[in-house]
Amino acid sequence: MKILILNGINLNMFGKRDPKHYGTITLDQINARVTALGQELGTAVECFQTNHEGEMVERIHRAHQEGMDAVLINAGAWTHYSYGIRDALAILQCPVIELHMSNVHAREAFRHVSVFSEVVRGQICGFGADSYELAVRAAVLAVKGS
Ligand code: DQA
Repeated sequence: MKILILNGINLNMFGKRDPKHYGTITLDQINARVTALGQELGTAVECFQTNHEGEMVERIHRAHQEGMDAVLINAGAWTHYSYGIRDALAILQCPVIELHMSNVHAREAFRHVSVFSEVVRGQICGFGADSYELAVRAAVLAVKGS
C-alpha cells in the first residue's frame, strides 16, 4: 500500500508561522512522524510539498498514473479557492482525505469554505500535527476496511 501526503502553499514554514494555530513542529518533523506511523501500519508514505499551484496539480496527475492507494492533502490557503486543484483531485479514483492542523471552522469566515469538499472522502482538522497521523489512519481504514 502507498499513501501520498501533499502539502501546499506556506506549509514549509510550519515551525516558524503562527504557533497559536500551528504549534512549533516543523514539516520535516511531521513527515518523520507519518513515515514512522506508515511503517507501523504497513504502508509506504511519500511526502510532497510545493508553493506552486501548477506543480501541485502535476503531482496529483502523477499520483493517478502511479496508482496511489490514498492521497492526503493539506493544501493550506488553496483549500479555500483553488478549483484547479479541486479538479485535479476529482480525477483520482482512490480515497482523498483533506486535512488541516487548525480547526478551520473556528477561524475567519473564508476558511470555513473548502472547494474540495465534494471530491474528498472526508476532512480532518483541528488536531494540530496529530491531524496528519489521524489522516494516515483514516486512509488505511478507507483502503483496507475497518
Ligand atoms: C491550514 C489552514 C488554512 O486555512 C491555512 O491557509 C493554512 C494552514 C491548516 O493546516 O490549518 O495555511 O491548512
